[in-house]
Amino acid sequence: MVRTRLSSIKKGRAKLPRNLTAIRLLHKEEICELLDSSADFKARVIDGKAIPSLGKKVVGMLFFENSTRTRVSFEQAAHYLGLKTANFSAAGSSMSKGETLKDTILTLRYERLDALVMRHRASGSATLAARYFNGPVLNAGDGQHEHPTQALGDALTILERKGSLDGLTVSIVGDVEHSRVARSNAWLLSKMGAEVRFVGPRTLVPTPQHIGMLPGEVFHDLQSGIQGADVIICLRLQKERMQEGMLSSIGEYAKLYQINRDTLRYAKPDCVVMHPGPINRGVELDDAAADSERSAITAQIENGIFVRMAALNWVFGENDMGPRAVETPDKSAKKAVKAK
Ligand code: MLT
Repeated sequence: MVRTRLSSIKKGRAKLPRNLTAIRLLHKEEICELLDSSADFKARVIDGKAIPSLGKKVVGMLFFENSTRTRVSFEQAAHYLGLKTANFSAAGSSMSKGETLKDTILTLRYERLDALVMRHRASGSATLAARYFNGPVLNAGDGQHEHPTQALGDALTILERKGSLDGLTVSIVGDVEHSRVARSNAWLLSKMGAEVRFVGPRTLVPTPQHIGMLPGEVFHDLQSGIQGADVIICLRLQKERMQEGMLSSIGEYAKLYQINRDTLRYAKPDCVVMHPGPINRGVELDDAAADSERSAITAQIENGIFVRMAALNWVFGENDMGPRAVETPDKSAKKAVKAK
């Protein structure tokens, strides 16, 4: 009797978890599936139509770094899908008593949480969490590595404005070196057929050695970097991850790389201006660019909810692609470059 029960418990646990740790690990078909489902959830929420409930599941929200947009939109997404959330932060958890991330994740696994949404300052932490949690893990930003749901929200926003990603020129301007948003966006956009450019000072764009592993071309001059661009994604200067001496002064950075009425003249007239937030107004972009009709910044925030609904729905769905958390050297980098 006992044996039968135990074997059925084991059977119930055997299903492979589906994770969303990195855009780099997704196939183009999976990105399309996530974007279609995001658009569908958006229409349902806006039209007040029924939303299928994922019911009776508890999602752990582990934010070990500050967040407003990502955290609130994951909460909203979970709420629309009928999920419960359990909140953790570094200060309030046993990590403040010296517990390792691995032990924290194992604890949450045996507390029987159904999924984890995690933000952590260490690159690769989401992959580590996926290994030990053994259930769906959604990366809400891991160090300088990836921020997959931000890229999905940005892609949905661009699709709404431009109708397609294929063939667009997208300039990612600013602190590329420290930006997980830049990396996830570059992977997603290049897999979907866009031309990606990284624009910024030498200290803030990856070195030639690293850029070989990212799908995009480097420009140090703003004018040529945004010339003819369909979309400009401005990035925040990530001072918390910067070594001293990487910038001579904020004023000089703004003078050379700020997106404003003057510099926007180099891009296409209908160029869309984006920023993942939080914005340093007057540094990365001025008020005129941030609040103009070309700006899609508020749409990016709102779309964050719908892509996170799609992401939660996706990780709990049928898994026919196998586990996708562990980074194995794949050929997608080269394929992505060729896809341009
Ligand atoms: C992030 O968490 O990476 C943000 O969305 C962008 C930023 O912090 O600059």
